[in-house]
Amino acid sequence: MVASQILGYCRPGFEADAGLELQTRAAEHGFYGYFKAERLSGFYLFECPQSLQPLFKRLALTQLIFTRQWLQVLAHYDNLSKDDRLSDLTDSFAELPVISEVRVEHPDTEDGKELSRFCRKFTVPLRQALKQRKLYQESKGLTCLFAFFVKSTGCYLGITPMNNISPLPGGIMRLKFPAESPSRSTLKLDEAFLTFIPEKEREERLRAGLNAVDLGACPGGWTYQLVRRGMFVQAVDNGLMAESLMDSGQVTHFQEDGFKFKPRKKNIHWLVCDMIEQPQKVARLMAQWVSDDWCKEAMFNLKLPMKKRFESVLECLAIIAEVLPGKLELSAKHLYHNRDEITVHLKKQEK
Ligand SMILES: C[S@@+](CC[C@H](N)C(=O)[O-])C[C@H]1O[C@@H](n2cnc3c(N)ncnc32)[C@H](O)[C@@H]1O
Repeated sequence: MVASQILGYCRPGFEADAGLELQTRAAEHGFYGYFKAERLSGFYLFECPQSLQPLFKRLALTQLIFTRQWLQVLAHYDNLSKDDRLSDLTDSFAELPVISEVRVEHPDTEDGKELSRFCRKFTVPLRQALKQRKLYQESKGLTCLFAFFVKSTGCYLGITPMNNISPLPGGIMRLKFPAESPSRSTLKLDEAFLTFIPEKEREERLRAGLNAVDLGACPGGWTYQLVRRGMFVQAVDNGLMAESLMDSGQVTHFQEDGFKFKPRKKNIHWLVCDMIEQPQKVARLMAQWVSDDWCKEAMFNLKLPMKKRFESVLECLAIIAEVLPGKLELSAKHLYHNRDEITVHLKKQEK
């Protein structure tokens, strides 16, 4: 029997963490396989003797921290003809359900980026080839077709249910750096809000007038995201805050230790934290704030070690579960703007 494969995209350098995470989560649903990953390739393959198709019904991409996008591999081509790639690929069309979206993508590596122009151009003839065979129906199909090019003559062809993909090209959220922000870190919190807070709830949960605490705030990239949304921020850090933020009148700076700080105001909605500290220590502090109702929601980064990063994440999640045994809204993602860190959103589940 041919083994079934899932291909997952991730940040280059995190292939083994992403592969191990999917292997672990798949096993929890009874799919026992193993992953293969080439370091710095920007993707991994998870292989299993049983069909992996049902896994897409049981595991959501949003539950995976390190995987940006995923597909069930239908075919792998290593030696496509440069003059007619399409004919080779259409050989696999017999296996396809009706397709409603086509993505031609590449790994997020320097070599991969060289393929981006070609990928953009190739989307149209690929979609056209599907239409000719009556395999493309934008409104009716439930499946996305991926052609993931790893070189100009090599690609993986695969499918994913439309309701379990990242809507973003390459699974990457590209954001413009706001020139007024004092640091590039600002993009991490912006991406986190856009990732974890559903669009229809943003007006309410990120509204002007809310109170927030920013632990490890200097020079103020995260505070900037809160201030620009009209919030009032207690910024905690021994460093210096950008003058522009202090001039807004919305920021109070406390030169204190974030682990000892107690909020001066009640009704803090947001606790955000970007302190460079041991992740287990930060996880415990965040869970404690939420448990004690010092804030309604927390958004924080966990800086990961160089090795055994997935294991370290599991330890942090276990600490949160120990401090906060009740029902939680907890999401974590290795965001595009993160490097050796992940971002976590934590909130008690409303009754
Ligand atoms: C990555 S920087 C934060 C950048 C900030 N989020 C921004 O967007 O500009 C980490 C900050 O955490 C602060 N920090 C580290 N340990 C801390 C502690 N125990 N208490 C308060 N701040 C701490 C450091 O002084 C440093 O300014």
